[in-house]
Amino acid sequence: MNKSFSQRSLPVVLLLSGSLLFTTGCTDGGASAAQSGPSHPGKAVYNDYCYSCHNAGISGAPRLGDVDEWRPRIAKGKALLLASTVNGLAPGMPARGLCYSCTDEELSQSVDYMIERAQPLPAE
Ligand code: HEC
Repeated sequence: MNKSFSQRSLPVVLLLSGSLLFTTGCTDGGASAAQSGPSHPGKAVYNDYCYSCHNAGISGAPRLGDVDEWRPRIAKGKALLLASTVNGLAPGMPARGLCYSCTDEELSQSVDYMIERAQPLPAE
């Protein structure tokens, strides 16, 4: 009885140690991927709230990465862009970009992200 139990459990042990090795490999891969391209702190809010209008250019929203559309807006300065974001800009831009749970700091980071993506030099 004991003998047949240990024979059957051997493959299970091998399988477990195999998956542990596999898990370690995955973790290492994830770490190096993060090193090569850290996410911008404003990207998550952008993707959750601003993306829907600013990727497609809904109602004339300046599109993400469109240098020409952003140039005159960036020229107004970051403070004014943040004010337009917090207060909204009639008629198309809603107050807080519809993210009512966002702090001013989070909105500021998402504006930074949009400004950064609209720089004339392509980010690859
Ligand atoms: C419902 C659609 C919509 C959403 C959602 C939205 N925007 Fe906008 N946004 C617009 C439109 C339309 C404009 C252009 C307004 C204009 O110039 O008349 C605009 C303009 C802007 C501008 C330029 C303001 C200026 O003074 O020129 C900034 C900065 C901006 N949005 C940031 C954001 C951020 C940050 C978010 C997410 C937190 C966001 N927007 C979400 C529609 C949207």
